[in-house]
Amino acid sequence: MSSWLYSEKVKDHFMNPRNIMFDDEDFEYDAKGKVGNIKCGDEMVFYLKIDPDTLTITDCRWKTFGCASAIASTSVLSEMIKGMTLEDIYNISNVDIMNELGGLPDNKVHCSVLGDKALQEAVNNYYRGHGMEDKVHDTESRIVCECLNVSEEEIEFAVLEGARNYYQLQEMTKIGTSCGKCEEDARERLAFYLDKHFGVKEID
Ligand code: FES
Repeated sequence: MSSWLYSEKVKDHFMNPRNIMFDDEDFEYDAKGKVGNIKCGDEMVFYLKIDPDTLTITDCRWKTFGCASAIASTSVLSEMIKGMTLEDIYNISNVDIMNELGGLPDNKVHCSVLGDKALQEAVNNYYRGHGMEDKVHDTESRIVCECLNVSEEEIEFAVLEGARNYYQLQEMTKIGTSCGKCEEDARERLAFYLDKHFGVKEID
């Protein structure tokens, strides 16, 4: 008999997603953020209601056509953020969402960042629309390996897809396979994303 790879909490949030936006719902929002991820197969949109005096999130909705992991992780995220300030949003990590969900299969972790990215984009859009551009967190991805044109975002994605050491990262992205001068920077980014998403160090 086949069994689910997912925790009970993931199943619950997938089957009964919280704060999901229904097509016919008239939800008045103050900010909206949208991101797409072709590898995950779809798009995520987050809507926020924000108290302008305290810059606190009072309510939210989201919608996606993504997979079970994207739905469950965004559902749990939508419960976590009510009452948070906009600045708090930038400090939410994947580890926090994973812990809340009781884990996800490794090859599904990349789907869980969709909701988080759409949420951060909504906060950035709120700042942009209210004369607070100085508070916007830049999401532009820096190029780490100039020879192979590999960005920080691609390193992060490779980590979410299972890269646990520099050699696996090279197999997945080809980073550092030409002049090699980017190796130190690449290893530093690898360590950063392993810690950020899984709370672990590089495994040899
Ligand atoms: S900069 Fe990465 S191999 Fe040259």
